Amino acid sequence: MSVRWGIAGPGRMAAVMAADFAHVPGAELVAVGSRSAERAQAFADQFGIPRALDYDAFFAADIDAVYLATPHAQHTDLALAAIEAGKAVLIEKSFTISVADSIAIVEAARARGVFAMEAMWTRFLPAMIELRRMVEAGDLGEVRTIQGDLIAAREYDPADRLFNPELGGGAVYDLGVYVLAFVQQFLGEPDRVVATGGLLPNGVEGEVGMLLGWDDGRFASEAISFRVAGPGRQLVAGTQGWVDVKPRFHRAETLVWHPRGGEPRELHFPKRGAGYCHEIEHVNQCLAEGLTESPVMPLDDTLAVQRLMAEVVRQLGR
Ligand SMILES: NC(=O)c1ccc[n+]([C@@H]2O[C@H](COP(=O)([O-])OP(=O)(O)OC[C@H]3O[C@@H](n4cnc5c(N)ncnc54)[C@H](OP(=O)(O)O)[C@@H]3O)[C@@H](O)[C@H]2O)c1
Repeated sequence: MSVRWGIAGPGRMAAVMAADFAHVPGAELVAVGSRSAERAQAFADQFGIPRALDYDAFFAADIDAVYLATPHAQHTDLALAAIEAGKAVLIEKSFTISVADSIAIVEAARARGVFAMEAMWTRFLPAMIELRRMVEAGDLGEVRTIQGDLIAAREYDPADRLFNPELGGGAVYDLGVYVLAFVQQFLGEPDRVVATGGLLPNGVEGEVGMLLGWDDGRFASEAISFRVAGPGRQLVAGTQGWVDVKPRFHRAETLVWHPRGGEPRELHFPKRGAGYCHEIEHVNQCLAEGLTESPVMPLDDTLAVQRLMAEVVRQLGR
């Protein structure tokens, strides 16, 4: 079965993703939707996409699945429109910038029986699939702590999506989503989070340290920042050994397995394309199986991470 995909929001990320469609047999890029006819056409010409449409025509078109790549604050209306039109929808991270909006999308998708998933592409990388396999097989024993960061120095530009609050700017919704989704997949939703850090001149978070705790004593510590340069690594530690996820973990290809008392082993798992083709393939597979949610990135995981991000932002006084 070939899945007919449309891209909504033809910007920077959409261009990276469009190139990765070439690596997915069975995924056909058939349309692009934009607020501007000119921008849609320019994007369609660049990537050889047959149709450039305004959003009304886009959601009415013969498309099976929509990849939504507008800034996160602009995901909700378009996601709801896709669901209403009966299209499967792959929504860029962060899903939204509010728990209420995220719940609205999840409830709409479940009520309509339409597939929806947050585009947390990291979970679909071959290295991550192997790490989950190792954890599920018990190789690490019981995983009790995770420590890491996603630190990315960026020049402050209050107009840019990364910083502009109208577009969902701030380190939590751009970087925090990755580290929290990483921890959540292994340890689940924490019982508490304590966040500290600093805001940028326009009031969005520039740097944040987060300590996550579970009532049974497990914990995780994660750092995110736009202000300093840093590695972007993760360490997953269990009673029988630990795994270093080599930088940058959100696009990892290398794991170093340190069995307790044994010699470390470096394991390589190359990704294809820019690494986004794996999530596209996963959505295609889910649709072929008639699933309305991904077993790897379920909507309940998205909601758990959204609750955490909202709490972190609240504690920082935003
Ligand atoms: N997975 C990853 O590795 C990764 C990497 C980067 C970004 N992302 C995610 O991808 C999304 C887009 O990021 P980006 O950097 O590509 O954004 P961007 O280039 O700033 O914007 C994407 C497009 O969204 C549309 N748009 C902008 N403002 C809008 C508004 N107010 N209402 C409706 N549409 C609007 C624009 O298209 P038109 O003007 O043509 O409508 C724009 O070209 C974000 O959620 C981000 O977190 C993911």
